[in-house]
Amino acid sequence: MAKVCILGGGFIGRFYAESLCGRRSKDSVTVVFSRSESSAVRFANDYSVLHYFTDMEAAISHSEADIIVIALPNFQHEEAINLCVKHKKAVLCTKPLGRNAEEALRMMTTCEEAGIFTGYLEDLCYTPKFLKSLESVKNGAIGRVLWAKSRETHPGPHSDWFWDLNLAGGGAILDMGCHCIEISRSFIGKDIKPVEVMCWADTQVKPIDAEDHAIGLVKYENGAIGQFEVSWTFRGGMDLRDEIMGTEGTIWLNSWLRTGFEMFTSGEAGNYVVEKAESSSGWQFPVGDEAHELGYPNMFIDMFDAFENQTAPSETFYDGYVVNSIIDAAYKSAKTKQWEPVNLPIWRGQTGLSKPSVFKEYDQEHWFIKDEILPNGDKKVILKKKVSGEIVEIEILKS
Ligand SMILES: NC(=O)c1ccc[n+]([C@@H]2O[C@H](COP(=O)([O-])OP(=O)(O)OC[C@H]3O[C@@H](n4cnc5c(N)ncnc54)[C@H](O)[C@@H]3O)[C@@H](O)[C@H]2O)c1
Repeated sequence: MAKVCILGGGFIGRFYAESLCGRRSKDSVTVVFSRSESSAVRFANDYSVLHYFTDMEAAISHSEADIIVIALPNFQHEEAINLCVKHKKAVLCTKPLGRNAEEALRMMTTCEEAGIFTGYLEDLCYTPKFLKSLESVKNGAIGRVLWAKSRETHPGPHSDWFWDLNLAGGGAILDMGCHCIEISRSFIGKDIKPVEVMCWADTQVKPIDAEDHAIGLVKYENGAIGQFEVSWTFRGGMDLRDEIMGTEGTIWLNSWLRTGFEMFTSGEAGNYVVEKAESSSGWQFPVGDEAHELGYPNMFIDMFDAFENQTAPSETFYDGYVVNSIIDAAYKSAKTKQWEPVNLPIWRGQTGLSKPSVFKEYDQEHWFIKDEILPNGDKKVILKKKVSGEIVEIEILKS
């Protein structure tokens, strides 16, 4: 059983507590830190937490806190991690790990040098749909992954600090691109090096210094492409979608809108429907088990199992640092309008890969391009002559 201290009693702190205490669990939240006493008390009452604090260090150093969960605004992650190092406490940090790669690298190396257990709380890499798809991809169901696209768009976050460029460290790219990038990276292979990024970003609607909309391409060393689409200007709720295209197949995932649960309501009751829903009347798209569909319970199972067994969880501070490095390159590219290299002073995956050959032999004289059964049952095979390079077709009549 892990005794958990949650730092931050806000939006994500509550989702975490809900996932840890809202169902039968062998772990318990014993300590909470929140900025204001009223929020700390309310959180403690809601989740039967024995000890609450408005002093972060008092919460981290408490004897009933074995593992610290950072659910604080981005600008406080490093401060909290340094206190965990000081008190030699295991620590799990929400996304993004840092406001930039420099911060993330510092957090990762400080913890590694101190020898404390760490985990990166990237929940969208633990959703039931993601886990099952990843298993299929690893089993070869869609062949070699060529393009992994991930989208998170909604009408914008729920607290002031997100909208302050200095406090948050970025806009929609940092806030949501971190999810999309890690999703794509997982499907392409986390040991495949991201090499360069091309990104468009703009502030289209909100009066803020950061970007509220962006689209980016991440090129990997094996020729695969990751794509992220993020927006704080999207209307209609929260859109979480992924598309993975491989040489042998395709996967489409829709995790929030249109998941097979549709409800019409006059709105008389005016209740909460689902995260970031923009209306509580008319046709609604609720989600059966929000915490589970967002991956939180599976994420904590992996984290606490790894903590108990002293192994690494699937999502580590190293992953958080790689994601931050890709994001830094995206911000640079949005300014320079060029492909920008991903700067990874520490890289622990494969190196020296190149794009696989596109040549597949059909017979001694031809390379294979494609075949297709026509409506009348005949088959056409499109080929390229090895010597002349000429493209030809062969028709095989239906017997
Ligand atoms: N899917 C996800 O993994 C997910 C979703 C939402 C947020 N997050 C991350 O969780 C972290 C917290 O986000 P949130 O949505 O819970 O934010 P929030 O504003 O709802 O809550 C922040 C919490 O931190 C506390 N706090 C302490 N000092 C503060 C300060 N100086 N200013 C503001 N708050 C302070 C607040 O009291 C509050 O309890 C962020 O890093 C965010 O990126 C992750």
